[in-house]
Amino acid sequence: MTAHAGPTRLLLAGFGNVGRTLAGILARRASYPGLADLDVAVVGITTGSHGALADGRGIDLAAALTSFATRGRFGPECPEFAALDTARAVAVLDYDVLVELSPLAVAARGEPAIAHVRGALERGRHVVSANKGPLAWAWGELTELAARRGGALLYEATVMDGAPVFSLARHGLQGNTIARIEGVLNSTTNVILGEMERGASIDEAVAAAQRAGVVEADPAADIEGWDAAVKLAVLANALMGAELTPEQVERESVAAVTADRIAAAGARGRRIKMVCELERAGGSVRGRVRALELPLGDALAQVEGTGSMIRFVTDILGTFTVAEERPDLAATAYGVIADLFALNRA
Ligand SMILES: NC(=O)c1ccc[n+]([C@@H]2O[C@H](COP(=O)([O-])OP(=O)(O)OC[C@H]3O[C@@H](n4cnc5c(N)ncnc54)[C@H](OP(=O)(O)O)[C@@H]3O)[C@@H](O)[C@H]2O)c1
Repeated sequence: MTAHAGPTRLLLAGFGNVGRTLAGILARRASYPGLADLDVAVVGITTGSHGALADGRGIDLAAALTSFATRGRFGPECPEFAALDTARAVAVLDYDVLVELSPLAVAARGEPAIAHVRGALERGRHVVSANKGPLAWAWGELTELAARRGGALLYEATVMDGAPVFSLARHGLQGNTIARIEGVLNSTTNVILGEMERGASIDEAVAAAQRAGVVEADPAADIEGWDAAVKLAVLANALMGAELTPEQVERESVAAVTADRIAAAGARGRRIKMVCELERAGGSVRGRVRALELPLGDALAQVEGTGSMIRFVTDILGTFTVAEERPDLAATAYGVIADLFALNRA
């Protein structure tokens, strides 16, 4: 994967829940036998407003995590402290892979993460993104740039955390045309509906989802269906040859689902789920996120809490479903690790 001898050098843009979990796994790499072949070194870490670190020989991740936990930021007292913002780090540091872990920015239509990814690809570097924004809003530009400059652009963690949705569809469904994708893909709204089934008000249900730690930095991104719409755009672009943007996905807010509607569905032996759908329509792909009343026999009706499920409807294999149960942050970090292994293989 690398042009130079030695470990693959990673630049982490973002050191929040996912960045710190990934750093923790890499710091304890020796305790995961399956990671023995993953020869990587983190040479840069940037944040939005909590400082940055850089060291071409590899940052001491255990020390970085302790320092961040103690002080809440990277400051000049850290031996590897660097006065760098992400744009500059992307432009000047010596790294092989940019790992994009900054927040999903719906109002800014994926920026500044798109600029980070563009900057790395322009330098011929590889990019692994857990951030959906660049794939949803700049798919055509970034995939073309990656191909032209010889870098890879991978994004397994963007949908269903570390579950191998993209690698499975790409390798395991080869030869099929995907006619339709449907799923329960947003944890927050699924937790909210579950809480409301148990009698919580929408506000209490949102608070429960926040306690579960699954709500995006901006809760509206989940509640108004944006997170789901962004995921559908990524799936449509990556797996159905579309160039769909989140704004083109029809959205229904979970806030429109009333307690009465949930109770009436329950009385009929059914459940309301926020269902994400992609369907080929003529030459294009149509995306929708809406509350649907599902019979209990439908596997999508059985997705609990923070779990997710995706169903592919294909022309040869038929229907194929993947479920993810009780994911945690390590699952998302694994999505990044899976991409790093894929880069190694390539
Ligand atoms: N959490 C999950 O389970 C999950 C699952 C799949 C995908 N994702 C995606 O993974 C990404 C990271 O999620 P998270 O839960 O770790 O988010 P988070 O906890 O909110 O952390 C975001 C990190 O990004 C930093 N950041 C903000 N602006 C930045 C910039 N311009 N350049 C570099 N870093 C910047 C933040 O620093 P400051 O605090 O200083 O602003 C913070 O360190 C998001 O795009 C999210 O949608 C998350």
